[in-house]
Amino acid sequence: MTNRNLCFLLILLGLHLTCVFSWKKDEFRNCNQTPFCKRARARKPGSCSLVAHGVSISDGELTAKLISKIQENQEDESQIKPLILTLSVYQDGIMRLKIDEDPSLDPPKKRFEVPDVIVPEFPSKKIWLPRLSTETIGGDAGPSSFVYLSDGYVAVIRHDPFEVYVRDKAGKRVVSLNSHGLFDFEQLRQKKEGDDWEERFKGHTDTRPYGPQSISFDVTFYEADFVYGIPEHATSLALKPTRGPGVEESEPYRLFNLDVFEYIHDSPFGIYGSIPFMISHGNSRGTSGFFWLNAAEMQIDVLDYGWDAESGISLPSSQSRIDTFWMSEAGIVDAFFFVGPEPKDVIRQYTSVTGTPAMPQLFSIAYHQCRWNYRDEEDVENVDSKFDEHDIPYDVLWLDIEHTDGKKYFTWDRVLFPHPEEMQRKIAAKGRRMVTIVDPHIKRDESFPLHREATQKGYYVKDATGNDYDGWCWPGSSSYLDMLNPEIRSWWAEKFSLQNYVGSTPSLYIWNDMNEPSVFNGPEVTMPRDSLHYGGVEHRELHNTYGYYFHMATADGLVKRGNGKDRPFVLSRAVFAGTQRYGAVWTGDNSADWDHLRASIPMVLTLGLTGISFSGADVGGFFGNTEPDLLVRWYQVGAYYPFFRGHAHHDTKRREPWLFGERNTELIRDAIHVRYSLLPYFYTLFREANTSGVPVMRPLWMEFPFEEATFSNDEAFMVGNSLLVQGIYTEQAKHASIYLPGKESWYDLITGAAYKGGMTHKMEVSEESIPAFQRAGTIVPRKDRFRRSSTQMANDPYTLVIALNSSQAAEGEIYIDDGKSYEFQKGAYIHRQFVFSNGKLTSSNLASVPSSDTQYPLDAVVERIILLGHASDPKSALIESIKPEC
Ligand code: GLC
Repeated sequence: MTNRNLCFLLILLGLHLTCVFSWKKDEFRNCNQTPFCKRARARKPGSCSLVAHGVSISDGELTAKLISKIQENQEDESQIKPLILTLSVYQDGIMRLKIDEDPSLDPPKKRFEVPDVIVPEFPSKKIWLPRLSTETIGGDAGPSSFVYLSDGYVAVIRHDPFEVYVRDKAGKRVVSLNSHGLFDFEQLRQKKEGDDWEERFKGHTDTRPYGPQSISFDVTFYEADFVYGIPEHATSLALKPTRGPGVEESEPYRLFNLDVFEYIHDSPFGIYGSIPFMISHGNSRGTSGFFWLNAAEMQIDVLDYGWDAESGISLPSSQSRIDTFWMSEAGIVDAFFFVGPEPKDVIRQYTSVTGTPAMPQLFSIAYHQCRWNYRDEEDVENVDSKFDEHDIPYDVLWLDIEHTDGKKYFTWDRVLFPHPEEMQRKIAAKGRRMVTIVDPHIKRDESFPLHREATQKGYYVKDATGNDYDGWCWPGSSSYLDMLNPEIRSWWAEKFSLQNYVGSTPSLYIWNDMNEPSVFNGPEVTMPRDSLHYGGVEHRELHNTYGYYFHMATADGLVKRGNGKDRPFVLSRAVFAGTQRYGAVWTGDNSADWDHLRASIPMVLTLGLTGISFSGADVGGFFGNTEPDLLVRWYQVGAYYPFFRGHAHHDTKRREPWLFGERNTELIRDAIHVRYSLLPYFYTLFREANTSGVPVMRPLWMEFPFEEATFSNDEAFMVGNSLLVQGIYTEQAKHASIYLPGKESWYDLITGAAYKGGMTHKMEVSEESIPAFQRAGTIVPRKDRFRRSSTQMANDPYTLVIALNSSQAAEGEIYIDDGKSYEFQKGAYIHRQFVFSNGKLTSSNLASVPSSDTQYPLDAVVERIILLGHASDPKSALIESIKPEC
């Protein structure tokens, strides 16, 4: 029984006990208990005997058959089961490698190829390969074939032993696959008598009707100092090696979406999301990336030194390379190689495949107030008015599961929330919004129309015997919609119309939780792998995308509700590659301790590196009571998370910002004010993410790719290219050591004091704020008048903070639109660049649509300019009017 399950039963029994448990490691499988992982990890380098045959160009792609040496000499051709390889090239230096079974040989089942993740425009970026050159490279026994990628990069496939890699114009390798001969592809086969394919874990049996079907291979990143990415784990930004000499062998990084109760903060264990995208970075070559589009359970080893082919033991290598080993339970190889060479290039390349983050509504990047639960309408009203009383801005008030009638989503507990529409309207009158939770488990209650309809239409995921799968979650016995099916997604989306969602109003937005999916009585707290989806797809094949589809359908529902006019806001806990197109995510159930505060930085940074810019951690920590010192520090850091929300478990003491005495209220107010004043800057960064994929919150090395001191720094981070923030992660801290990169100075955000770049500063810290700096040479737009919410700030004037560099110059940008609709896609926005040089500030149009300035009327003006680092005190300022068309 899961801890949560036990708590649940206690609640059912009416026992008011507080559940104090910690992570139950034993509930989850480790690699040794996961047969495909155990088998793969035991393989020795060089054990792959596949040879590429018939390498040629067909339909603008390179194709080949991979046949094992053992099969090559088979007399009986019907015994030869080749794998089909296709290698294609896309604009911007992207190489795609697919390897699957040969469909013409009638495998027992078509293996699952993840649909709906690659953006529709990506295929049109394919470059038609004209020809192939084949030659033998010095030292190799057999030939290799070459195709041109871009900018001097070439994709190479060595035939025997089969290996694929990308090299640069100097002939140096960038990324490779199967260089250590670990590639293995378990082909599906007919079950023979005596085959025992079942797997058992903790009383659950996986029938595994198709038997072993895993895939594993090695991927090497050359001239790499560190690798990053593959969220979601509560671990460091630079991934620690899991195997290798001098490395204490640990579990591989697991990618399997799970609801992990009280996850620990420094572990390769998989939690709610999975993005199989890894980035390498090094001082000498730069950045490259590798993405495996596969939704089954994955496990990834990181070795800091190369494999030794002879002994199978890892040895230090003369080349600075990082070997990694990827293992997946099912699916196909559909892998993308990104050449960079700069960090932002890799992100652009990756998001050209999976999409850039959606442009959020302005309100959703302001502060959110949540708790499990705001009890009733009176509680909601009180919390709302207390924010005003204490002069603290906020934009969104959230309702957790208890607002429903018996955990039936789309319903209201009519005793606690008798007038939901009126309640929302009152909040909306102040320019604020509400969010309600809608989870994927549907209560199996005959009186619940949604359940009746889903049952009758056959919309639920089936168990291995073909019946509607019945699992246990908040409402008790529940079934789960089969979100793989587009028809079901579109049916689900309709449920969000104002007519269908009774009690909802246009100012209500949605929170999707438990969408891994969480099943309290399921194996590893999730759905059995042999459950069946649309088209006969087994749950094991798509598991990591279940929540992604749910998020997609919900976001679509909100778009439909607004007749396609308004941008949706949906927060999701489960994550997959491409989630950025549908909304925000948060890092789940963290704890109210300093380690979790610290861990939130690498977690949010890693999500950003893998496309998901709009993320944050529960401010204050979900489990446990937060000491005021920690809460204040959390708000101070949280004000810079792209998604900024306070949230807490129902067992914790209430912790709204005004409950910890006047001084702490003041400190929290100041922290929230920082976020509100920076909203114009954040919004501009969200637009940058929307157009380029480059995240709002960035690791330092993304802005300073050649400064080694930044490569493993995950205590500090950049917000855009202009601000550097250093969190404070210890109690009663009096000092902090802060590395400020680059040659230029940095200006303290509060005092304006200048600090030299390129060195570590030991600074005193006060309780008032965490260290934050503006980089010399940048201009940051702000709004400095504090209102109740972002809505009231719409027409407020701007402040420009100009931080001059050593040449007395600076530049920055501002992006403005209506903050809510899709009109910006038609050019209704302002995007301007500011440049300060030779003592003069000028502004020019950056919009791709030339006349966009005139399409978006705006009353706001720049009311204040703050000049930092000016060599002498300016004696006068001359203002010239700016013509709209300039
Ligand atoms: C899950 C969520 C948490 C939420 C709770 C009740 O634990 O992660 O944020 O409050 O469920 O819905």
